[in-house]
Amino acid sequence: MSTATGKQFDQGLVNTIAAETQMSFIDGEKGILEYVGIDIDSLARNSTFEESTYLLWNGRLPNPTELAAFEQQLRAEYELPAGVIDMIRATPADAATMHTVQTLVSSLSLFDAEADDDSPEANIRKAIRLVAKTPTLIAAFDRHRKGKEIIAPDADRSIAGNFLWMLRGEEPTETMVRALDVCLVLHADHGFNASTFTSLVVISTLSDLYSACSAAVGALRGPLHGGANEGVMVMLNEIGDMSQVDGFMKGKLERKEKIMGFGHRVYKAYDPRATYLKTFAEGLARDTGNMPLYEMSTRIESIMHEAVADKGIFPNVDFYSATTYWSLGLDLDLFTPMFALSRMSGWTGHCIEYLKNNKLIRPGAAYVGPHEVPYVALCDR
Ligand code: CMC
Repeated sequence: MSTATGKQFDQGLVNTIAAETQMSFIDGEKGILEYVGIDIDSLARNSTFEESTYLLWNGRLPNPTELAAFEQQLRAEYELPAGVIDMIRATPADAATMHTVQTLVSSLSLFDAEADDDSPEANIRKAIRLVAKTPTLIAAFDRHRKGKEIIAPDADRSIAGNFLWMLRGEEPTETMVRALDVCLVLHADHGFNASTFTSLVVISTLSDLYSACSAAVGALRGPLHGGANEGVMVMLNEIGDMSQVDGFMKGKLERKEKIMGFGHRVYKAYDPRATYLKTFAEGLARDTGNMPLYEMSTRIESIMHEAVADKGIFPNVDFYSATTYWSLGLDLDLFTPMFALSRMSGWTGHCIEYLKNNKLIRPGAAYVGPHEVPYVALCDR
């Protein structure tokens, strides 16, 4: 629809392309996601989160020396400033996790002398800090709220391994580390999704990376975006067991209620991130005694397939990441923070990319209110 200004009205920006990117490509009809041309399934099967982040930021995979150097740069930044640890200790134990993550990501700027330096070099250093410190602040808050001692990061571990170590205080198994790492690879980037676009709106004002990324955390927490993985688990818990699945789903579909973890604005085919994750979720569920949960999930998937596949509604990445996180023993309200931890890589990368050819993002509004309304003085109203 054309507006009075001649601009196109596009609710939800569904048909708008807002900028160019070389980071990720999505073909929603065919169910393809590539990071810099490499399909997501190959990356999930063979790559690590660190390697995928290098790819997204540098436009190519690192060689072994480059990867080792990049991992070292990240590991050198795992630790939190003492002031941020004080803030974590002062945070109420019942604070909502995503509000806490948003506040703590923003608080990192208070202890970074380069917070307002927007040179490309400083932005890369800040991106490394954001990716390296976000896992630490999530794990530290979780320990604090449970009344447990905060565990210092271990620079000999990968991001996934270090996170599980800091969270649990016990050695994670290799399968657990790999499972989390796969989830991090799969969530690292996804075009101009709502939170990435939020970060671009903020950075386009020539604000700073901390502001852009904390705003993005706020966008991510909504149930139509990153909050859906938590919604899936709430639903699975509400259903309870396999005998209740069919009745629950029948009621939901009759009432035309949305099923969390299904559907996507872009994918009208199977979300390519869900393919390997589904296989992985099954293995992990078997190893950890969570098969009933996995089996309930596959039953929901087949009911949904019969009911709505012809509308292009399939499981999205959140559907099987819920079972995966649950099998890893993560609390429900840590599911969306896991998404933030991973997407930090995409947010920072897109902001740095956008700044190379910056243009303030400022769409028009289709005004539908009245005109020429006479002003009535306060005393006459
Ligand atoms: N369950 C049942 N029906 C659905 C679902 C669902 N999850 N999603 C969409 N539909 C139906 C919807 O009812 C509508 O039907 P009709 O045309 O008969 O009115 C049609 O499909 C189009 O839905 P829409 O909400 O207008 O489509 P959208 O492109 O605006 O929404 C979405 C995309 C992701 C918001 C939506 O699919 C949804 O709410 N899904 C559940 C939440 C979810 O899992 N979100 C995570 C997305 S993946 C992670 C990420 O990248 O953020």
